Amino acid sequence: MLRLYTKQIMEINLPDLSLVVLIGASSSGKSTFARTHFLPTEIVSSDYCRAVIANDENNQNATADAFELLHFIVGKRLKRGLLTVVDATSLKPGDRKHYIELARQYHVLPIAIVFDMPERLLKDRHHARPDRDFAESVINRQLKNLREHTRNLDREGFRYVHFLKSPDAVAATTISRTPAWNNRQSDFGPFDIIGDVHGCHAELTELITALGYDVSGPVFVPPAGRRLVFVGDLVDRGPNSVAVLRLVMDLVKQGIALVVPGNHDDKLKRYLWGKKVSLNHGLAETVAELEAQPPEFVEEVKLFLDSLVSHYVLDEGRLVVAHAGLREEMHGRASGAVRAFCLYGETTGETDEYGLPVRLNWAANYKGRAMIVYGHTPVPEAEWLNNTIDIDTGCCFGGKLTALRYPERALVSIPAKREYAESRRPFLPETPAESGLVGMTAQQTLDDLLDIQDVTGRRTITTTYVPPITLREEDGIAALEVMSRFAINPKWLLYLPPTMSPVETAPLPDFLEHPAEAFAYYRKQGVRRVICEEKHMGSRAVVIVGQTDAVAQTRFGLADAAPGVVYTRTGRRFFTNPAVETAFLYKLRAALDATDFWAKHRTDWVCLDAELMPWSAKAQELIQRQYAAVGSSATAALADTLAALNQTANRSEDMAAKISGLTTQIGDYATAIGQYRAAYRQYCREVNGIDGLVLAPFHLLATEGRVHTNQPHAWHLAQIADFCAADPAFLLATPYREVDLDDADSQQIALDWWLSLTNAGGEGMVVKPPDFMARSGKGNLIQPAIKCRGREYLRIIYGPDYDRPDHLSQLKQRNVGQKRALALREFALGLEALDRFAAREPLRRIHECVIGVLGLESEPVDPRL
Ligand code: UTP
Ligand code: MG
Repeated sequence: MLRLYTKQIMEINLPDLSLVVLIGASSSGKSTFARTHFLPTEIVSSDYCRAVIANDENNQNATADAFELLHFIVGKRLKRGLLTVVDATSLKPGDRKHYIELARQYHVLPIAIVFDMPERLLKDRHHARPDRDFAESVINRQLKNLREHTRNLDREGFRYVHFLKSPDAVAATTISRTPAWNNRQSDFGPFDIIGDVHGCHAELTELITALGYDVSGPVFVPPAGRRLVFVGDLVDRGPNSVAVLRLVMDLVKQGIALVVPGNHDDKLKRYLWGKKVSLNHGLAETVAELEAQPPEFVEEVKLFLDSLVSHYVLDEGRLVVAHAGLREEMHGRASGAVRAFCLYGETTGETDEYGLPVRLNWAANYKGRAMIVYGHTPVPEAEWLNNTIDIDTGCCFGGKLTALRYPERALVSIPAKREYAESRRPFLPETPAESGLVGMTAQQTLDDLLDIQDVTGRRTITTTYVPPITLREEDGIAALEVMSRFAINPKWLLYLPPTMSPVETAPLPDFLEHPAEAFAYYRKQGVRRVICEEKHMGSRAVVIVGQTDAVAQTRFGLADAAPGVVYTRTGRRFFTNPAVETAFLYKLRAALDATDFWAKHRTDWVCLDAELMPWSAKAQELIQRQYAAVGSSATAALADTLAALNQTANRSEDMAAKISGLTTQIGDYATAIGQYRAAYRQYCREVNGIDGLVLAPFHLLATEGRVHTNQPHAWHLAQIADFCAADPAFLLATPYREVDLDDADSQQIALDWWLSLTNAGGEGMVVKPPDFMARSGKGNLIQPAIKCRGREYLRIIYGPDYDRPDHLSQLKQRNVGQKRALALREFALGLEALDRFAAREPLRRIHECVIGVLGLESEPVDPRL
């Protein structure tokens, strides 16, 4: 504890992360001081809290509630890492206890500023104040309390205590602030982060040379702009701790390296500073090495180790380096607990069969956005887990010395020249047979269990494409219901397709939908060309297929080998019969094999967005129960009605004339029903197993490490046509037309094509901008696709006689706004899910987007759109 009297020091220096507690009797000038030196929002005063809850800042009845509120506000601010000043008398230890607890909880420094003013002054001021009406004796009592209870502020837990003993001292005081030492947010790297060196000097030199650093001369030369970061444990166990210290200290001096301390470095420091420590785990050898060094060097080591900061927060908070890792709420904070965590990690307090502390796996529960690079626990391979990575690959135990390049995420290792120390706990890899997990990464194993808390409640999903998307709690619940009851293993679900909006309603008399409106939409968005793709009438299918069956395990982390998966737009298995799915996937794989797809795209799996035909293959029940039922009962009923009408008409001309209107009407109904039946029957075809199934892929969504949404549609269709050619009876390359929106002829050609497609019973077409992700002139994402359905097809959707002029005019009132907003958000979520999968993010992060699409799908919108 430093007790500072401002007689000597007029400046009070505050770390950015402080909780400042002003202590003093009424009228001692606390509020005035606070107003002078801090932002109004940084000050939380008991007067203010009293006023907020009781309309009166002097209401003593409100004390308990006012302080409850004050503590609450202080807690919220500290949680966010904001400097906070408590303005209350805080005269007794009991008044201050809670602040110390809050500071501990949020790992900020508690600082006391005591206003110990002369009694006379206080009383004079008191009498001059209209806002304080209590008796003078109160001041006497407060002063007595102050003088009795501010002698042990350090023991109460305040890290710094400042006394101001006169108005002059107050006037002479200035406040300065220092950012936390660990805060290097404006340091962007790039970095090469090095795991536990433990005296392995030869391997270290080799590693940094391999990374492109020239350390042969007295002036070290790093590769352009790069710097080294050491995760600590430079010393002990290996053969050359002193040489490592010398090299690293020189690197630091030359501004080429940053170092955080490891527990071994810390223990050496304590030894050098004369603390009693046991000379075990390699420390004795390090000490012996140091004893042979000149005392100046030892002194330098002592100061160097003492200067090390527990951890660093770098690159605007995107990167955190700490020896044993760090829980999110401790990033950038400073406290004994933070330092202990950085040095030793989190332990249960128990020891394992090797006598080593049992560690809690904080990384398994880590959900923060910052990447955490750490060491401390030797592992055979550096592996990502929830955006954290342990790069201590046990060089001193005969493993290797590893560096992580940031931001590239590439690993570089140098094998140990030999085993310098024996590990108490075996750290070399279990064989796959021992672990029972063939090819599964730590992340994939962890991902076997998703946490319901990651998907429940009102959620906001942040994507790189559109403003944050809010998912209502009830939508999340609906999505979860679908997921948990019907969906395939979520490890397969890297994408769900978005809904697609139809065109705005056509002004043309006979059409509800017409391509001219799609062209108009894109023209308005500043798009000059579009691509029109035939819209197949089948069922949406997302297909993932691997080059081998093992890919299901190695890349997707499934327990069993599988050729891939075919799923619907709600994440359900497309085929109920697994044998059909397997045969289907093998057939697709054969086409990909035959056209050298894997080598061409340097991948061993692919995810396709596709339409699977015939429609009846998936929708058989819907067709029978809904469409066919209407069709056949209407046909039968109308035939009977017409027969009866004809019979009646035959009785007399007079009668025939009377009912002719009705006869025409029923006749029109019958015609409409005939057209309706013809419409859905087009899409029904017998299939036997996979015979008769046709797959029409239209997006090549992703392959290993790549999401192809940066490629134009023409590229997608070309890649797809390439492998479709291998099996044209099974794989359908989607026909398309490119349209110049400035050219009337070009548009007419597409229009004629649409008419010919739809007149022949086709569903219609999808109009897309040339780019997968197109933006308007203002930079906003625009509709990725707009569908224009044919007149006959719409009969299935809107009913047999939807095109009767009176019906049509009513239908034209439809509004596509909500559908469009949904389509855009679902599209963004789909892309985000793919991006996260490609970046090998934890499953919960991909799942979040997938649940998001499903959730949005449960928003009530007209299902006919
Ligand atoms: P404050 O209102 O700052 O005192 O000053 P306080 O410690 O916060 O008092 P409580 O605990 O809320 O009651 C009290 C009076 O003293 C004057 C102020 O203008 C105010 O009227 N004052 C304060 C000075 O005249 N000079 C100073 O340096 C500080
Ligand atoms: Mg005050």
